[in-house]
Amino acid sequence: MTSPWTADDIPDQTGRTALVTGANSGIGFETAKELARKKAHVVMACRDPHKARSAADAIRADVPDASLELIDLDLADLASVRTFAGTFRESHDRLDLLINNAGIMMTPYGTTADGFEQQFGTNHLGHFALTGLLIDPILATPGARVVNVSSGGHRMGSIDFDNLQYEDGGYGPARAYGRSKLANLLFTYELQRRFRRAGARAEALAAHPGSTDTDLGRHLERYRAVRLARPLTGWISQSAAMGALPTLRAATDPDAFGGQYFGPAGRMEQRGYPKIVPSNDASHDADDARRLWDVSEALTGVSYGPLDTATVDG
Ligand SMILES: NC(=O)c1ccc[n+]([C@@H]2O[C@H](COP(=O)([O-])OP(=O)(O)OC[C@H]3O[C@@H](n4cnc5c(N)ncnc54)[C@H](OP(=O)(O)O)[C@@H]3O)[C@@H](O)[C@H]2O)c1
Repeated sequence: MTSPWTADDIPDQTGRTALVTGANSGIGFETAKELARKKAHVVMACRDPHKARSAADAIRADVPDASLELIDLDLADLASVRTFAGTFRESHDRLDLLINNAGIMMTPYGTTADGFEQQFGTNHLGHFALTGLLIDPILATPGARVVNVSSGGHRMGSIDFDNLQYEDGGYGPARAYGRSKLANLLFTYELQRRFRRAGARAEALAAHPGSTDTDLGRHLERYRAVRLARPLTGWISQSAAMGALPTLRAATDPDAFGGQYFGPAGRMEQRGYPKIVPSNDASHDADDARRLWDVSEALTGVSYGPLDTATVDG
């Protein structure tokens, strides 16, 4: 039996730049910390500068020589995404690892600064725009990886292009979360196809953390059943350090490659060390993926330049 993949297996990251969205909390925090421990320069992309500073202090307490850079990013505001990308590009011409981790889950209906349904807008469109705006440094970096953090919840989702953001009603917190996480996977696989067609030396992978004890459930506290089940959380869920392993493996395992999806190896992919896991058929629908790409470009106004051109004949 092979031994489980752990953070000790992360190869030395000296000279590499990693960008982690939502690096101040939960899985993103652990991801940033372990990459810093392995000597990556880590850009922590967070929406709250105070939380970002506290998180950086906490990482430095554990990893005193951590190379960290803090840049504000609110994925629920395209102006912020553009400002972030401009700031990043001013001082970086390479990006080895883009970890699209930040997310919100099962929020009541709401909209982003640009009027998008907020789970779809934050979890998918914000990261779609961010990745597109950073595509030049990604393509300029041999072996660059984009890792999108999805969820087993993608199985609850479906894409309805006629009511993509529940313009005609039918919003449900769980189904909207599922749609946003399915979109993360459709985006991953389409990005990977476009990397290949363009002959790019970059890879797109996905990961999910199973059931991990983080702040993600903050919007569920309004449900009595969730409050009552709180004492069981530690029993059902794994630690954020364990939950970060699928992301870390997708990002750094030399044997991993584009199009793979990592999740916990335990029962129902809820806990455990990371392995390659399947995603559902809907996530592999190439027509939906292409259409979602076009819709996402139209909604965000962000285009992918060389990756769009390469698809015309592809
Ligand atoms: N925990 C689980 O069991 C689980 C299961 C499946 C998938 N996931 C996925 O794992 C990822 C990380 O979640 P987590 O469990 O670590 O939750 P978390 O502790 O709540 O962390 C989420 C992070 O995303 C950030 N964020 C939220 N909205 C943002 C925005 N508009 N702009 C920038 N950053 C924003 C949060 O910032 P603030 O601190 O400022 O709010 C926080 O840093 C998510 O994509 C989630 O869908 C988690």
